[in-house]
Amino acid sequence: MCTLGGSVAQACATDEKAGGEFTTLRQDRASYEEIVWDKVADSQQSAVTAGRGFVRQTWVVSPSLTPDVAGLGPTYNRPSCISCHPHNGRGKPPEVQGEPMRSMLVRLSVPGLDNVGGPRHEPAYGDQLNEFGVPGVPGEGEARIEWVSLNKTLPDGEIVALRQPKVTFHKLAHGPLDNSAMSSLRVASVMYGLGLLEAVPEKDIQAIADEQRREGRGVAGTANRVWDVAKQSSVLGRFGWKANQPTVRQQIAAALLGDMGITTPLFPKPNCPPAQTACIAQKADTHPELNNETLDQMALYHYMLAVPARRDVDALAVKHGEKLFTEIGCSSCHRSSLTTGDFPALPALAGQLIHPYTDLLVHDMGEGLADGRPDGIASGRQWRTPPLWGTGLLEKINEHTTLLHDGRARGPLEAILWHDGEAEDARTHFENLSRADREAVISFLRSL
Ligand code: HEC
Ligand code: HEC
Repeated sequence: MCTLGGSVAQACATDEKAGGEFTTLRQDRASYEEIVWDKVADSQQSAVTAGRGFVRQTWVVSPSLTPDVAGLGPTYNRPSCISCHPHNGRGKPPEVQGEPMRSMLVRLSVPGLDNVGGPRHEPAYGDQLNEFGVPGVPGEGEARIEWVSLNKTLPDGEIVALRQPKVTFHKLAHGPLDNSAMSSLRVASVMYGLGLLEAVPEKDIQAIADEQRREGRGVAGTANRVWDVAKQSSVLGRFGWKANQPTVRQQIAAALLGDMGITTPLFPKPNCPPAQTACIAQKADTHPELNNETLDQMALYHYMLAVPARRDVDALAVKHGEKLFTEIGCSSCHRSSLTTGDFPALPALAGQLIHPYTDLLVHDMGEGLADGRPDGIASGRQWRTPPLWGTGLLEKINEHTTLLHDGRARGPLEAILWHDGEAEDARTHFENLSRADREAVISFLRSL
């Protein structure tokens, strides 16, 4: 039975302690926001608090009476991190026709690679559609989703309604998108547990890819390779729906620039494609707008976030579902256990046995989920196995149950039924389970 020692979960069965010593027993709406204070050195306390402040901050347009939190735009999607990641959690897609995107975004690119192997920017709009502009600068335009419904009939006759998004663009300020433009819809993903995932040794991730090929069940994940700006080299990608960012720090800097228009030493140039003259003419800020210290504080805050402990691990249906999850091949990709290696940036994260249910690899998930937009060496059909830890609390914390990169699935059942490509075998086994067994698998997912 788990107990709480300080802010850290103790005396738990190992599989309950999802994040090792970085696990919280909180099960309320703040569970994704819990800082593991016991692991924060005295000298780091003010940095963690400052980092949290920046993540929660609503940024304002320069010039401002509060210059510390000024620098929004010239173009942006939302004015704060937590408007897309409420309670450090997950975003969701618009539900009704014409509703704007509030916690998701659309990545854009044209075929080919940029000079560091990343997606080539759409010439007039860059690599992401920014809906809003500061006064005097037009927003780039709006993306809308239309849901196309389809039904899937399972072998035992159960009919499940599915939906697939179709994106359309409106009010484009700089003319139509390039004829060859590709787009990718992505909801905001969760912010906790990422330091632990950053600390998983690259050789262990590669070993999983090798093992998948040896197992021969059609599962063959690939480690994405992406540009690490600080290291100036191509490295393993870990974060984002296609493992398109290498580190928490770079992910944050990319979010600051791409989602809010805020420059940092990692990305010091304002986000203004050549065609956007009003954007370029906007000179209210000096760049970079934030310094390395702020970026480090934000990264440290992410590192210190706890992962929610599992719940109901002894319930019969949960135990049965867990066994089935392994038997039918879900765990080939959703790996229950990984161990973190040395992590000089924050030694406390080293040597933790964690239960994230990911392999950090990208997999071909079939045509139905494909976005057709490559990212690093991840193809238009590949997605990173998302960590499943903490997803059982999604409904309580974020008041919705939508899953997958574009939020199309309205719960775990729909998410599983979209699995195809490398996951076809596992999905087919799932479909052939009895209804009670399928529900057991879902009970297990809810315990994570
Ligand atoms: C417009 C909505 C939006 C805003 C604002 C936003 N994010 Fe995100 N965030 C996303 C989306 C979408 C993804 C997934 C990106 C991808 O797959 O390319 C993401 C991914 C992330 C991830 C990686 C999570 C993972 O599991 O791999 C982190 C960390 C993150 N965001 C932090 C931040 C921080 C910090 C800020 C504020 C500086 C921020 N985000 C602002 C939408 C947003
Ligand atoms: C070949 C690797 C692979 C296998 C096998 C696999 N998954 Fe997945 N799973 C993924 C990937 C990749 C995604 C993300 C797809 C996307 O967002 O388009 C995913 C997404 C999910 C999600 C939604 C997670 C989220 O954060 O939105 C759930 C739930 C899930 N899988 C459960 C299962 C179950 C249950 C099984 C076994 C029936 C299974 N998976 C088998 C790779 C796999």
